[in-house]
Amino acid sequence: MNGARLGPKDLRTLLGEWETGGQSAYHALADRIRLLIIDGRIPTRTRLPAERELADELERSRTTIVSAYRALKETGHLVSQRGSGSVVALPHAHGGPGGFPEPAVVDFARAAPAAIGGLETIIRRATERLPDVLGKSGFDLVGSLPLRERIAAHYSARGLPTHPGQLMITLGAQHAIALVARTLVRQADRVLVESPTYPHALDGLRVSGGRLVTVPVTADGWDGDRLRDALERVRPAVAYLIPDFQNPTGASMPPAQRDEVVRQARRAGTVLVIDETTADLDIDRGWTDVPFAARADGHRTVSIGSLGKSVWGGLRIGWIRADDDVVGALHTARAAGDLGTPELEQLVATEVFDDYPALVQRRTEQLRHHRDVLVRELRERLPHWDVPVPDGGASLWVGLGAPISSALALFGLTRGVSLIAGPKFGVDGAFERFLRLPYTGRVDELTRGVHLLEDTARSLPALPAGRSPQLAEVV
Ligand SMILES: Cc1ncc(COP(=O)(O)O)c(C=O)c1O
Repeated sequence: MNGARLGPKDLRTLLGEWETGGQSAYHALADRIRLLIIDGRIPTRTRLPAERELADELERSRTTIVSAYRALKETGHLVSQRGSGSVVALPHAHGGPGGFPEPAVVDFARAAPAAIGGLETIIRRATERLPDVLGKSGFDLVGSLPLRERIAAHYSARGLPTHPGQLMITLGAQHAIALVARTLVRQADRVLVESPTYPHALDGLRVSGGRLVTVPVTADGWDGDRLRDALERVRPAVAYLIPDFQNPTGASMPPAQRDEVVRQARRAGTVLVIDETTADLDIDRGWTDVPFAARADGHRTVSIGSLGKSVWGGLRIGWIRADDDVVGALHTARAAGDLGTPELEQLVATEVFDDYPALVQRRTEQLRHHRDVLVRELRERLPHWDVPVPDGGASLWVGLGAPISSALALFGLTRGVSLIAGPKFGVDGAFERFLRLPYTGRVDELTRGVHLLEDTARSLPALPAGRSPQLAEVV
């Protein structure tokens, strides 16, 4: 089966600032395309532009492009197909099964913490109720009633009256996002997203045919004018927002701005999809708010939650809170993709809610310590990087001072540190000067990871003179 064709202009956008002074042009181009393939920005089976077309677009000789493509073919990242030209592949000979890279020594790619202390005891407690589950099919499409009752009570206690019929239990928040996208987004619908944002949400929204419209968010928050403009002028069908400890910036939307967004979304007829996966990771924000949907005052809002960060991603327990009719539509749509959430994990999740406040407190104390260690190490070893300190969430959004994020990700692999390049968090090749660094790993891993980062940064080929004055200080 053939994949989509990537046009020369789109490839140029994805490439961003790909040239490095220390490498030949063909080598640098091959490296950058390889990274785009490895991190999924160019899916397998995509047809790359013909060599001459790309040479014209990049204003390079055809020989440069031919050599770059040849290098990619040698490492198995491109194959020639009769009639289709050069097609992207994942090399089976490299890395682990299916061509995926072997796990790195330090994983800065995922913000996925280990299970919170105390979960083992909770799991043991839950297994005492195993007979309740083993006597039935053990999975279902909406989720077990006891778990939905607990989550409903949790919302209600925090100021958003909720009944179990408004909830669907999912296989984590990512599944929830994809299912909501599949149900609410139609082909060519405009979908408002933050830029940068959580990359797999972008994947889910794109797969559903959404045309993404972005509004900027930084560590200092959302650009209110651009947000208003985008809602007013584009009138997107859906807006996907992460208002608490936004991934990756760590920013939180002030309550008054939330009210603004609701007002504007109501006017534009935009359904708000609010991802609260990171909302409980409050390290030292200093204020709390009701769940976003409590401010929606009847305007259609879909909330997504998860135990993935606060408790353990290995449970794969997330949920969607929405109006009953939306839950009905989700229910109808779901079976095409999966037949339900395992009851065993739901049994554990139900028990989790008995201890939830204590577990969250344990998690945020741990994250505070880890955040402080990572900030200290980075400031010490890479003093030219800009390291803002978020007041919650699971990662830092670090300014590199130079467009080296993709190069770091690529060279980091050879030094045992896996990273996601900044542009993966955007839609248009931006953020080459940023790197997300999660502080969810063990403290010794964080420290070692920063050593490896420093080592990687030093080993990078220099950018062409004049491209970035700061780089000389970084490398
Ligand atoms: C904002 C956001 N949404 C969703 C997810 C996916 O969470 P889950 O593990 O529950 O699928 C993540 C995980 O990093 C996230 O940061």
